[in-house]
Amino acid sequence: MSSNKTKYISTEILTCNDLGISRAVQILKNGGTVAFPTETVYGLGADATNSEAIEKVYQAKGRPKNNPLIIHVKDKTMAEHYVEMDSLTSKLSTSFWPGPLTVILKKNPLTSKERITEKALSKLKTVAIRVPAHPVARKILCLFGKPIAAPSANLSGKLSTTRFEDVVMCLSGKVDAIVDGGPCPIGVESTILTIENGQLTILRPGKITEEEIKSIIGKIKYKKEINKNKITSPGQFESHYCPETPIRLNVLHPRKNELVLAFGPLPQGFNGLTLSKISDPNEAAMNLYSALADLDNLAKTTQSNSIAIHPIPLQGIGIAINDRLRRAAKRL
Ligand code: TXA
Ligand code: MG
Repeated sequence: MSSNKTKYISTEILTCNDLGISRAVQILKNGGTVAFPTETVYGLGADATNSEAIEKVYQAKGRPKNNPLIIHVKDKTMAEHYVEMDSLTSKLSTSFWPGPLTVILKKNPLTSKERITEKALSKLKTVAIRVPAHPVARKILCLFGKPIAAPSANLSGKLSTTRFEDVVMCLSGKVDAIVDGGPCPIGVESTILTIENGQLTILRPGKITEEEIKSIIGKIKYKKEINKNKITSPGQFESHYCPETPIRLNVLHPRKNELVLAFGPLPQGFNGLTLSKISDPNEAAMNLYSALADLDNLAKTTQSNSIAIHPIPLQGIGIAINDRLRRAAKRL
């Protein structure tokens, strides 16, 4: 009898010691899917050269096929094998890799055995490439020896995950293994940039800011605003990172029935959480997705009908936090 239900897979929980990591690598080599921590958010990894393994990633996340996957490599040398590195990117990579910077680059012509499968790239001629800094991600990449496609480890359109337990909540039964690497230290996804005809565009703000990028490459034309009518990157959907509970942004005076997500101390008489008691933007970024996940659950038990979020200054990593919150507030 045929069934429309998604197939249930038994998910191995792996510790981030040598044994757990070598098991994770073995699963990847066998064409399986493994969620693992990076310094930004958890990623759901698969062998980027294996189209069947990539298919499993799309399946587990419920991700539209026209949304390409970020490719993780162990270092710049490995990146150069798969993509054309221009001199500006080379400069940036020297400063920011390993780290939370993803660059969109033209793919190199390679033999079919070697190349990143078209399925991972949604047939694009470009690759979003990144060298993560997290020790667990690095160890997996070094032992695996090939590129790993790893979009954020969450269901498509929902909150990204920065804690092991959140990955378990959304992906157990859907992936082959999850590596417990504790909380992710940065908490928002990598900065994504593209350089076309000498013009740099930041497609997704992150921990590495435009100022930091400018300080490395200096004089280059910057394109400020992404044209909202044209999706430059297929994944830059306006509604994204969505909790189930509606959220209201830049709220100074929450309503009675609302949960509060504070920046600074939680206001007296309100139920909620704070992103950072001391209004530290880096701490706020680290807590962003876990706080939204916890408030989403709390809203169900307290019958709160929305989450009111304090204003967060639009500077440094605050730009990335505001970007994610703006998308989380958009409903389809
Ligand atoms: O920090 C991160 O980047 C995390 C960790 C796990 O590495 N990954 C992540 O992946 O955030 P994901 O798939 O959630 O976001 C990657 C974005 C998507 O919006 C996707 O559409 C875009 O990168 N992307 C991937 N390949 C692209 C390409 N060739 N051109 C333009 N955008 C691309
Ligand atoms: Mg994502």
